[in-house]
Amino acid sequence: MKAIILVGGQGTRMRPLTLDLPKPLLPIANIAFITRQLLWLKQYGIYDVVLSLCYLPDQFVEYFDKNPIENMKISYIVEDSPLGTGGAIKYSAGEIQDSVIVCNGDVLTEIDLQELIDLHNSKNSLATIALTKVEDPSAFGVVPTNADRQVVAFVEKPSKQNAPSHWINAGIYVLSKDFLDIIPEGIQVSIERETFPKAILQGSLYALESDEYWLDIGTVDKYIQAHTYILNKLSSTSNNETYREVSNNIFSDGAVDLGKDVVVLSKCLLGDGTKIGDNTILDNVTIGKNVEVSKNVKIINSVIYDGAVINSDVNIYDSIIGNNALISEGVSLSELCVIGSNEKLAPGESLVAKRVPSNE
Ligand code: GDD
Ligand code: MG
Repeated sequence: MKAIILVGGQGTRMRPLTLDLPKPLLPIANIAFITRQLLWLKQYGIYDVVLSLCYLPDQFVEYFDKNPIENMKISYIVEDSPLGTGGAIKYSAGEIQDSVIVCNGDVLTEIDLQELIDLHNSKNSLATIALTKVEDPSAFGVVPTNADRQVVAFVEKPSKQNAPSHWINAGIYVLSKDFLDIIPEGIQVSIERETFPKAILQGSLYALESDEYWLDIGTVDKYIQAHTYILNKLSSTSNNETYREVSNNIFSDGAVDLGKDVVVLSKCLLGDGTKIGDNTILDNVTIGKNVEVSKNVKIINSVIYDGAVINSDVNIYDSIIGNNALISEGVSLSELCVIGSNEKLAPGESLVAKRVPSNE
């Protein structure tokens, strides 16, 4: 079976990180998100994947040339201008046998894809959607179902008070050939607002409620949360040979240099060649390759990309530092700051909930 991953969006909520790197190529615990998604598909025997691209397409080709996935065939379809979720699926589907898997390109999950495929086949439906339960459904497609798992409505991004259910579209579908036939060709189409409602009218849209882990990584707080999930799964006794516990609570896939009196309050991941200075406190932190952290630094619940330099007496809380950024002495960052690649912060700067460069 073939899969299509929708990766054409601009990732505006993750700027400035997505100004030069599309959202699916941002690392989650030092591995590009899309690689994690492809490995999840591979577990279910999916080896043929089409990436539906629009924004910065060459970056994907370059990335997979350098980081191929064993036994996986990856092809690329590039839109001239965004066709919307439905239009992009139609444009990139090509020849399919009976049905195709479609995934949004920003969903970190352990949903059981085989269960979804089995439900699709047993109902012989036009389309079958995976659902996940969230507290506030207003940022998602809300999908109430009946006892037979038939979808009775699809309400994209309702107001909080008008949401008919807490079960939302998880962005993973099995679509049959006949479903693709009801998507018009060559124009912008939203699968959520246009095509799913059509399938409901035909009484042939089904959904699987799943309790497995699921997270849309498309906002800064969720992106940091995704790291916490991966960090908590690291274990010195697991079969995962990629990361070793090099010191209490510090995991790495390479050689790291730890100074004196480094305090590590919960699991942290450090890339090869990274140096941590004396008297530093780390708590729920992912640090990329070749990062230099000086002395008396506190980094809490944050993500630091490759090549960044963090000078002494810096405090970083709940924030992301881009590739090769320079965080000068005495800087303090908190409440979801995002510092873009190669940016330099002046000594002593104190930023709260700021993006550098700013979005304006
Ligand atoms: N190729 C292509 N072309 N891809 C696109 C386009 C397009 O025009 N527009 C969006 N995408 C891709 C994005 O890159 C992303 O991977 C996916 O389609 C969904 O777009 P988002 O912009 O992330 O949508 P959302 O998060 O607001 O809502 C969607 O996902 C929710 C689950 O996370 C909807 O499908 C909701 O119904 C769903 O609940
Ligand atoms: Mg999204």
